Amino acid sequence: MPDTMANSSVGTVPQPGTGSGLQPDRFDRDGQDQLVDVNDLHAALPGIRRLRNWAHEALAVQPGESAVEIGSGTGSEVIAFADLVGPTGSAIGVEPDPNLLAAAERRARKAGSTAKFQPGDAYGLPFGNDTFDVALCERVFQHLTGPARAAGEIARVLKPGGRVVVMDSDWGTAIVHPGDRHVVHEVIETMIAGTTNPFAGRRLAGQLTAAGLVVDDIGSHALIQDGGIGAGALVARIADMAVARGSITERQRDQLIADLEAGAATGDSHLSVTIFAVAAHKPL
Ligand SMILES: C[S@@+](CC[C@H](N)C(=O)[O-])C[C@H]1O[C@@H](n2cnc3c(N)ncnc32)[C@H](O)[C@@H]1O
Repeated sequence: MPDTMANSSVGTVPQPGTGSGLQPDRFDRDGQDQLVDVNDLHAALPGIRRLRNWAHEALAVQPGESAVEIGSGTGSEVIAFADLVGPTGSAIGVEPDPNLLAAAERRARKAGSTAKFQPGDAYGLPFGNDTFDVALCERVFQHLTGPARAAGEIARVLKPGGRVVVMDSDWGTAIVHPGDRHVVHEVIETMIAGTTNPFAGRRLAGQLTAAGLVVDDIGSHALIQDGGIGAGALVARIADMAVARGSITERQRDQLIADLEAGAATGDSHLSVTIFAVAAHKPL
């Protein structure tokens, strides 16, 4: 079954994302707006902004081209693509979550953009072979049980010579400081155990290569949580889960939270995860 964000929830299963340092991609959500809010929060992060700039530079979208974003969320990048391709080109976003799709459509309308959105899944893109000049897939692979299949779909829908950027986090790069190293290790391991594809970032180049694409460049940015935020709700929640699965004791959890709060108070605090972006093209 496709691993969409719609069937995951933070609360029983840790669902780390690539947010502000260590924030989840979504919170327990009664209202759909929360998901949109989280998306906006992440989009505003300096690390995401820098990597998106890198992606746009690598893709160098031209007027008249056709562009697609897979897992387009609230649609900001598709709207940016629509501006770049102009009236003679096309920009479309594919998104399985109906609420995100609706938000993206609303925003495109409001912006007077020609960006289009349609429901769809990375495992079976609703397009023919050799359709697009440009593709983008940002922070989707971490949610996929079958990322290699998604890479194959991207390769299929790209025209020969078409360019793609795929970017995602790698939870093997997570840093939680300060704190006892063993306790921190167990908390990060708990987070990794609850993520569908926790090492997505390091696997991107290999998966795109296996799909027949040629890797041109790899970029990265650490997403660093604002030190003023303190221990961070997700770290506290994951620490609770580490206790529940017997990896750390309650005392160790309490000490970790105390260490993080003390660190935040003095500016000696660092919560981060690194996100990697791979630029590739389909050979002629
Ligand atoms: C962290 S959000 C990123 C959204 C958008 N790419 C952005 O950068 O703002 C992850 C996105 O992946 C989408 N997603 C999850 N599983 C997917 C799948 N199987 N196929 C396509 N998109 C998927 C989610 O619905 C969500 O829009």
